[in-house]
Amino acid sequence: MSQNVSMIRRRASKESLSSGRLRWLAALLAVAGGATLAAGLWWRKNPSPCPYGLRLWVQVPHPIITHSRLKRILEPRPGERLLEIGPGTGYYTMDLAEWIGDGELEILDIQPQMLEHTMRKVRSRGLTNVSSSQADATNLPHPGGSFDAALLVTVFGEIPDGDAALREVHRVLRPGGRLVVGEIAVGDPHFSRLGSLRARARRAGLAPNGHSGFPFAYFARFTKPGLRIPAHEQARNETG
Ligand SMILES: C[S@@+](CC[C@H](N)C(=O)[O-])C[C@H]1O[C@@H](n2cnc3c(N)ncnc32)[C@H](O)[C@@H]1O
Repeated sequence: MSQNVSMIRRRASKESLSSGRLRWLAALLAVAGGATLAAGLWWRKNPSPCPYGLRLWVQVPHPIITHSRLKRILEPRPGERLLEIGPGTGYYTMDLAEWIGDGELEILDIQPQMLEHTMRKVRSRGLTNVSSSQADATNLPHPGGSFDAALLVTVFGEIPDGDAALREVHRVLRPGGRLVVGEIAVGDPHFSRLGSLRARARRAGLAPNGHSGFPFAYFARFTKPGLRIPAHEQARNETG
């Protein structure tokens, strides 16, 4: 009898220990979740470049905003001059450089470590048509009309004055030049919705000219007016 009582006591004390541990774990997870959410909200309200120390985050596969989808909407042509703003560690850079063949790709980033990282990859691939410059997207160091196309993928929301960046892109594009902006909501506190991006681009003088993807992960294309966009091309660019 007394053996049974002590067994029951032992079991009860073990159970209360493990339920105590579970409560601790739940509390810990709630605090960690709350802290992550608070950090995300703070970062969204205070846009700033993704630090080089967090580069693993930008190196993971980008679903939906894939290389092939980018190629279809950007329509890069051999010989073109492209500007990639915010290449990070070069997720798209190598393909962009290959797509334009004997053209030129300029990568521009506010953080020198990102540029150095990407240029190391460029050299190890043996690509010779890529150059880099360190600058802020809101103050581009290029003369007006220098580029056939520009690209900003998961960068726009990190720029505190996104409208100034769009005006700068408008300035450095040639008439008829294209801008492609890529955004993905998952894991990015700086995600910009397509509707709001389009309104801001229009104000900067860039005309919406198609998109690809979904509301939570998309590439949007804009054109600097100056050349007529044939109607069939406009319709073709509106793909899911
Ligand atoms: C999240 S990473 C995106 C990297 C890459 N485009 C990708 O999709 O994997 C954003 C990049 O934009 C750069 N960036 C942020 N603000 C910038 C600014 N104002 N001017 C230029 N580059 C900026 C950051 O340094 C970083 O390399």
